[in-house]
Parts: sequence; structure tokens; C-alpha cells
Amino acid sequence: MRIDIITVLPELLKSPFEASILKRAIEKGLVEIHMHNLREYANNKYRQIDDYQFGGGAGMVMMVEPIDKCISKLKSERDYDEVIYMTPDGVTLNQGIANTISTKENIIILCGHYKGVDQRVRDHFITRELSIGDYVLSGGELGAAVLCDTVIRLLPGVLGDETSALTDSFQDDLLAPPIYTRPSEYKGWKVPEILLSGHKKNIEIWREEQAIERTKKRRPDLLE
Ligand code: ADE
Repeated sequence: MRIDIITVLPELLKSPFEASILKRAIEKGLVEIHMHNLREYANNKYRQIDDYQFGGGAGMVMMVEPIDKCISKLKSERDYDEVIYMTPDGVTLNQGIANTISTKENIIILCGHYKGVDQRVRDHFITRELSIGDYVLSGGELGAAVLCDTVIRLLPGVLGDETSALTDSFQDDLLAPPIYTRPSEYKGWKVPEILLSGHKKNIEIWREEQAIERTKKRRPDLLE
């Protein structure tokens, strides 16, 4: 998979790709990340990429031309399956959307700033608008990092244990059951007996019950 990220703050998006799972996925050649500084596509010497709103109102708007130049250059080099815009008024990202995006070959992620982008960018380039939650960030970069993380970990070969992404919370609309590791008793706090029994079938049933119980309590909306 190849991910091209268009941003005015490429430095904000460095560290997520320099550690742990994402770093290893890049090193293994399972994903390529390419950062594009939108200011390099500005058409004046001040590298201006935003301007005042037509009709008045507080806050700057990201201009159509630099974004057009950047996206058009990328599209002239290869085909893209999706051009995703990170914005608080997008569809809220969930596991199902992450699963879908993880099957794509090449995607572009555009990070919004200020008031957002000129509507014509959304009308003519964007195939999907995503939010990472009902709160406003100062830009789309952290949202893009979240999206990349959740998608990249789903790519075949990224997680060591091939089954572990499948047992994550949300993967089957249930939260994950409680988990434990050694020691089996600490300060008198015991690990549930069943997990030490070695009885695979019963453990599986217990985990399913716990997952349903936890989901009922914390996220009943997932069971509807
Ligand atoms: N940009 C600003 N807020 C955002 C959010 N909640 N999700 C995605 N991009 C954003």
C-alpha cells in the first residue's frame, strides 16, 4: 500500500511513523508513506496556501489551487483509489471503514487546517471525508496519523500474530474481553481460574461471554 499525505505541517507527522509497528511495516516494505508539504505548491513567494472567506466571516480557508496542483501531480504519476479529507464534519472513522481502506492500493490523505478547504476541493477531488471523533483538532494531521495507524496494522504481514488484528475490540462489533498475564496471583488478586485450566473450548466460551457482558455495559449501541 502507498499513502500520500498532503499537509502544511509535515513535521507533525514524522514521529508516528518512526516507532514500533508502523516503523516496521515501512521497513518491511508493506507500506510506503510520502509526505507532501502543501506550501511547496503555493503560487506566490510567501508560500501562501490560505485566504479570507468570500462573504466574510472569521477564519482562513485553504485555497483550491495549491491543493489542485499537488493532487493533480500525484494523480499524473499513478492511479489513486481514494482521496480522503480529514475534517470534523466527515463520517466518523470506525473499524469497518478502516478494514475497507486497508484493501486499497494507493490513497491520498488531505489534512485540513484553519476553517478547512475551499468547497470546490471537496466537490472535485475528495472521495471520502473522515472525522476521528466529535471534537475539533487544530488540524487534520493527528486524524491522518490515527487513520494510518489503524489501517496499516491491518495490512497482511504487519502484525506478527496474524490472528491478533481479528480479535481486537470492534472487529466483530464486540469489545475485547479482559486479559491477564503472569503472575497468576498478585497481592491476592487472582486471574480467573478458567484461564489457567488449559481447556480451550471453555476459555473461548468464557471470553465470548465476557466480551458480550462488557459490550452490554459500556457500549450497548454496538449490540443494536
Ligand atoms: N480536523 C479537525 N478536527 C478533526 C477531527 N475531529 N477529525 C479529523 N480531522 C479533523
